[in-house]
Amino acid sequence: MDRIRIVGGVPLRGAIAIGGAKNAALTLMPACLLTDQTLTLSNLPHLVDITTMANLLAQHGVSMALNGDSSQGSPTGRTLELSAATITNTTAPYDLVRKMRASILVLGPLLARHGQARVSLPGGCAIGTRPVDFHLKALEQMGAKIELDEGYINAHVKGRLKGAKIIFPQVTVGGTENTLMAATLAEGETVIANAAQEPEIIDLAQCLVAMGAKIQGIGSGTLRIEGVEALHGAQYSVVPDRIETGSYAVAAAITRGDVELTGTRMELMASVVKVLAESGVTITETERGLRVKADECDIVGTDIMTEPYPGFPTDMQAQLMALMTTAHGASMITETIFENRYMHVPEMMRMGARITVHGSSAIVRGVPNLSGAQVMATDLRASISLILAGLAAQGETMVNRVYHLDRGYERVEEKLAACGARIERLKGSD
Ligand code: EPZ
Repeated sequence: MDRIRIVGGVPLRGAIAIGGAKNAALTLMPACLLTDQTLTLSNLPHLVDITTMANLLAQHGVSMALNGDSSQGSPTGRTLELSAATITNTTAPYDLVRKMRASILVLGPLLARHGQARVSLPGGCAIGTRPVDFHLKALEQMGAKIELDEGYINAHVKGRLKGAKIIFPQVTVGGTENTLMAATLAEGETVIANAAQEPEIIDLAQCLVAMGAKIQGIGSGTLRIEGVEALHGAQYSVVPDRIETGSYAVAAAITRGDVELTGTRMELMASVVKVLAESGVTITETERGLRVKADECDIVGTDIMTEPYPGFPTDMQAQLMALMTTAHGASMITETIFENRYMHVPEMMRMGARITVHGSSAIVRGVPNLSGAQVMATDLRASISLILAGLAAQGETMVNRVYHLDRGYERVEEKLAACGARIERLKGSD
């Protein structure tokens, strides 16, 4: 397994190019199943999860053509053409789904286009049990017959799905995405109340409209979809990744550096910008994106609570905690979305951080310096938070199990080294 070695203490200076959003790409790609024509996605990031989704779609019969390569640092990332002219297989197998929970997002499109789907239940992951009951209830309300057996979701519908009024009891990004995609081809109107409003949902809705879907209320908590007989192909560019942007903003802040983040947009992450500004970081909009300046300020402890968009994103909680471990004063962090998203805490404490967890809240008392240590990555966002802590720590930090990292961050050591970080990837023997 690869490891990443960091010798901390260097204020980052320079520019980092931000890629397309992983969590937008993972729902835009299965949207190709809704039409027999070609969907072309540009600004696609080069990530393990994207490859996993491509492998899953390929075994459903989707043909794909990839051109361009974001490793050339091209601003538009890679372009992927997806054509689901014929769906040859409606099963999403356990060995693919267990690698990536977002595989569940083929369920709605397969049901809508093909009338049946057999999708492995994703199972839990490190950060929580992550059930999919809201997805299944919504599709049943739209007329799908769903049975669970041998760890699989067996779903089918006679004829077309029917429009329905769906009220999610809790905001669910994936549940909104599955239901939205299914509703585009359903008979009649579907209303989705308490819908997720993340930029990735807006991206999906705008892409579906480009494919001929009829959707009202995009960007609000209530989506109205008038089903159509068929969708057509489209070209669509993936929205910049607000979590990658936020992660590198913290890299600049935690090293007291000055970095421009290009190919991204400030309005995607108002809640993150607000918290960083409250903690003393100067963030300004530039022609190419945003500039994060922390070389002349004290970072002070700031309280956060994770919430559905437009609140502070849970996917930035670990990264902000890393920053708070080196702030002046204390901060209270409350995780309201997932039940087990503090696995980075014991690892940061090995680096000298002072953190106390009580249930869903963590009190972080800032220390003058972290010290480098051997640490273990446990999940995607924990991985990047340990790298951020390593950038600030005195001495050497070795982050193990970085395969978690590669699921969601493209060439992270290259991007940080280009801004002066002393960071390298040590190839694993196995
Ligand atoms: C998406 O996961 C993201 N993943 C997650 O990002 C992100 O943390 C999460 O949304 C919240 O913003 C992708 O987009 C691929 P949810 P998702 O359905 O859709 C409960 C990352 O690091 N729930 O909004 O699975 C669930 O347990 C990843 O990039 C049910 O109870 O999240 C959780 O507590 C991690 N039943 C809460 O709702 C359901 O049927 C929010 O889950 C569905 C969800």
